[in-house]
Amino acid sequence: MLIKILAGAFLFALQQQNVAAETDASVYIPNIEGKVVTLGSANFTQQVEDSPDRAWFIKFYAPWCTHCKTLAPVWVDLAKTLKGKANIAEVDCTLDEPLCRSYGVSGFPTLKYVAKDTSVEYRGTRDHDSLLAFVDKASKSPVTHVSDSELAAKLDSDEVSLVYIYDSKADHIDTIDSVGQAFINDLATYATSDPKALARFGLQKENLPKVVLWKGDKAMIYPGSDFSNVPETRATLRNWVNDRKYPLFFELGPGNSNDVLRGNKLVVLAFFMPSRELDEQKALLKNIAESYAKNVGDEGKVLFVWMDGIKHARYVYNVYGFNGNALPAVVISDPKNTQFFAKNIDGEALDLVQTDEIVKAIDDAQSGLLKAKSTVPSGQHFAKYIEKAMVVAGKYWFITIPAIIVSSGLLIIPLVKSAQASDKRTDPKSQ
Ligand SMILES: *[C@@H]1O[C@H](CO)[C@@H](O)[C@H](O)[C@H]1NC(C)=O
Repeated sequence: MLIKILAGAFLFALQQQNVAAETDASVYIPNIEGKVVTLGSANFTQQVEDSPDRAWFIKFYAPWCTHCKTLAPVWVDLAKTLKGKANIAEVDCTLDEPLCRSYGVSGFPTLKYVAKDTSVEYRGTRDHDSLLAFVDKASKSPVTHVSDSELAAKLDSDEVSLVYIYDSKADHIDTIDSVGQAFINDLATYATSDPKALARFGLQKENLPKVVLWKGDKAMIYPGSDFSNVPETRATLRNWVNDRKYPLFFELGPGNSNDVLRGNKLVVLAFFMPSRELDEQKALLKNIAESYAKNVGDEGKVLFVWMDGIKHARYVYNVYGFNGNALPAVVISDPKNTQFFAKNIDGEALDLVQTDEIVKAIDDAQSGLLKAKSTVPSGQHFAKYIEKAMVVAGKYWFITIPAIIVSSGLLIIPLVKSAQASDKRTDPKSQ
């Protein structure tokens, strides 16, 4: 009898569930079980890419990596906390390496929030509350609606801002929403329909809607006028922003070093000695960046970056050959061709104080007039160097020889090595 009752209750519960599922079929509820979902190449496309309305926070990992093991229980807890709120998933990169590569995974674990066709990497500490705060931020609209006077204050205080100016009807705001999402680590996104904002950027009402990227005290106006919410339009705008998202000059750090030192732009890379008048050293770099922007135009083709040359002395010496007593120093780095320029056309060392000379040297470097040095030091066996570079990478989060790795198809080996190396050492991302 008891069994019958229990069975009846069970069936009833099951029916209820089915009813619930039927009635709610139109309403998608994420993470219904409060669990981490395993994804792989067999189902990633269907679950993530073909389901643009579902957002996923995804852990790309390797089972042997220690940081991944530390994160595992946190990830399970996070999935529990976010039951019914956000999808939490994991991808084992040793099983699905091409998938991980297509998401730009270069170390383990890599955490990405993927929504619509946008993915944004998590770069903070990997504890439950910080991760939760990130999901909260990432799942909200990145767009702040402002009046012209509010905008003025924001432009004053932010290093880089993305501004959408539209005509009364808030059409296409969803496009801006999606594009802004990709840059929540980098910049703030604003929207305004305040007619007073037009004059601020020299725009006419007939031009609207427009997107403006504001940096320093300069406006860069997006040349396109199509803001329809389709993947191609979003990608075009996203690429335009991505090319210009960095401040006039900035410090190299765990969040941007891959992008900067593995990218395809020239980088004016200064090695500072922070113990000695850091502000003055920064002012010199700023001068160069401003002068370059003024004379050549600033569309983000060249990045102006500094790093602590003492903290990263080994890297600076190994790759660029500068001793601590040679600091501050500056080079023009050309990561795409794994080379850098330390001397001007007359063979003199580049000097941070010589603003005009450096601006000219950037030009000369682009025209192939300067003598390049390889970022792979000579006299060392290549394989040995890779190993060494990866040790440096692990310790200092720099991947020093990216182009070679990628172009030779060796990616997975250094990927594994790099992660193993970083595994054994302190990883600034986890501090
Ligand atoms: C996705 O595929 C993996 C194998 O690649 C499997 O382990 C996992 O359970 C699948 N997940 C879903 C949600 O279907």
